[in-house]
Amino acid sequence: MSTILVTGASGQIGSELVRELQQRVGISSVISTDIKPLPLENGTIFKKLDVLDRRKFEELVREYHVEEIYHLAAILSAAAEKNPILAWNINMTGTLNVLDVARVCGVSKVFIPSSIAAFGPSTPLDHTPQTTIQRPNAIYGITKVAGELLGDYYVEKMGVDCRGVRYPGIISYLTPPGGGTTDYAIDMFVSALRKEPYTCYLSPDTSLDMMYMPDALRACIQLMDADSTSLLHHNAFNVTAFQLTPARLAAAIQEYIPSFVCAFESDPVRQAIADSWPNSMDDQAARTEWGWEPRFDLDSMVQDMLQQLPAHLSLF
Ligand SMILES: NC(=O)c1ccc[n+]([C@@H]2O[C@H](COP(=O)([O-])OP(=O)(O)OC[C@H]3O[C@@H](n4cnc5c(N)ncnc54)[C@H](O)[C@@H]3O)[C@@H](O)[C@H]2O)c1
Repeated sequence: MSTILVTGASGQIGSELVRELQQRVGISSVISTDIKPLPLENGTIFKKLDVLDRRKFEELVREYHVEEIYHLAAILSAAAEKNPILAWNINMTGTLNVLDVARVCGVSKVFIPSSIAAFGPSTPLDHTPQTTIQRPNAIYGITKVAGELLGDYYVEKMGVDCRGVRYPGIISYLTPPGGGTTDYAIDMFVSALRKEPYTCYLSPDTSLDMMYMPDALRACIQLMDADSTSLLHHNAFNVTAFQLTPARLAAAIQEYIPSFVCAFESDPVRQAIADSWPNSMDDQAARTEWGWEPRFDLDSMVQDMLQQLPAHLSLF
């Protein structure tokens, strides 16, 4: 059975991906790493690892005979705009370290997610094609485009089997999000369940692609399982589940919690980032090449969030 190493394992996606991977390959075959502790569960192996520490990274990969790396350590969009130099260092040098350690250690597969942030104001915003103009003007997006190209470079020139998707905003209930522009969706559920009013930092009609966490995990695992001969692309597959505006989500929550009050007050930094991202992506390449298909739409996501989140509300 293969040994898997996850970077950024304490984050929104990592904390759930680790559980999923543990179920597939066994608890002792998944090495969780982060600079922030993971809420420890029975038997989970956790190692403190800064992805900028290449030497320690390589030591860990050799010590555990790691065969797959899932690289989730990153600084997300809103947090990155507050500290662009830090974001550049972690998102770029961290990614380069992962790819190069994979190369020298003969790691068989690497997953590195990109984002809708890899697009920009000059990108066609509706049905955004798989291959199109990518000139983002926020530092997070700039690092995501460079990361996509670096992944392709390591596939083509270095023989590293690196794969990835362009995730939309991810909605989940287990771990608070880490400073992205789509965090409002989770914040809205938290406020509604606490019976508190919520003021959204995006305008009511800002349309963005979104996805529920179970679909995000499935996308990652399905792509990593895909037969490489069926892949024309390797990195940066557009994947989406539904298109959401803050007004549409508030109304969907109000169907279940009619007392929920949502106001809107745009934050110029996050509004500008959101306005530069697609309204809706075309994910046909992922559907054709490895059978991508989301299972949750807006209604089923809202129902499940309202059922699951109350048990975890104290973490938010
Ligand atoms: N969550 C989303 O909506 C979303 C959308 C698109 C793409 N993505 C991408 O998915 C990946 C995971 O995102 P997430 O939402 O889980 O992010 P997150 O912010 O919740 O988690 C990132 C983790 O990285 C860790 N980290 C930061 N600096 C580090 C360092 N130097 N060394 C090691 N670990 C470090 C943090 O402690 C954190 O636990 C990222 O590449 C992100 O760009 C996420």
